[in-house]
Amino acid sequence: MMTTAIAQPDGSATRAKAASMIEAREVFKTYRLGRVDVPVLRGASLAVGEGECVAVLGASGSGKSTLLHLLGGLDRVDAKPIDVDAANHVTYRGRAIEAMGAGELDRYRRTTVGFVFQFYHLLPELSVLNNVLIAAMVAHGRLGYMRQSSDLRERATDLLDRFGLAHRLKHRPVELSGGERQRVAIARALVNKPELLLADEPTGNLDQTTGASILDAMMSLRAETNQTMVIVTHDPATAARADRVVKLVDGKVATSG
Ligand SMILES: Nc1ncnc2c1ncn2[C@@H]1O[C@H](COP(=O)(O)OP(=O)(O)OP(=O)(O)O)[C@@H](O)[C@H]1O
Ligand SMILES: [Mg+2]
Repeated sequence: MMTTAIAQPDGSATRAKAASMIEAREVFKTYRLGRVDVPVLRGASLAVGEGECVAVLGASGSGKSTLLHLLGGLDRVDAKPIDVDAANHVTYRGRAIEAMGAGELDRYRRTTVGFVFQFYHLLPELSVLNNVLIAAMVAHGRLGYMRQSSDLRERATDLLDRFGLAHRLKHRPVELSGGERQRVAIARALVNKPELLLADEPTGNLDQTTGASILDAMMSLRAETNQTMVIVTHDPATAARADRVVKLVDGKVATSG
């Protein structure tokens, strides 16, 4: 069981060490389409322990990507949840993301989290290798990048090699298949050795055999660094690799399996 009632919205209270590394506590997220409010998350809670791998299942449109974006600090919970008593915040090591200033939030997004986007978001003008290296450049700042460039190049090349893309380093995304682009996106998310990997359908465009081998590579990297993972997936084989499976239903997280 995860310890609760530790983190305060302002991140100040540290009565006990946070049991979870990343946690969504009764989060609410509503999108506004014209004049219509579309509530997506309605009190969703998920606590993920250090080094744990959790798979998130749920129907299309159930809010899986939305939840992952909130965990990664890419989006914010509703300012005023419908249920005003709800905790409605996301905490990283007991620190509320909503309380982070711009600089802290930026560091969290760039260096703590590695994010695999559902639709990859690769830069079309850059080669495969540079799409991976740019994440390192952004995280280290340009000077850091210059200093460490040979190490980073080696790591980027090694990752792409592990994901079966050694022969595609100089290609542009448009010259790749969907599954190959997906693998570039995974390598990019991992290049900075993030403590927390948030992966949105990382095997969604891969056949079963390729998907399994990419997951093998991800899991062995995870073991090397005790990385914490949240993986959104539709794929039962991918979910089976997680320590725990949860499901998004009616805007809430239900545990299953
Ligand atoms: N930026 C947005 N503006 C308005 N509505 C949005 C926005 N992003 C998502 N939604 C809506 O919120 C709901 C949840 O979207 P989300 O992308 O989180 O679902 P999902 O579970 O990831 O689905 P899928 O399995 O298809 O990827 C959907 O109904 C979607 O239309
Ligand atoms: Mg999605």
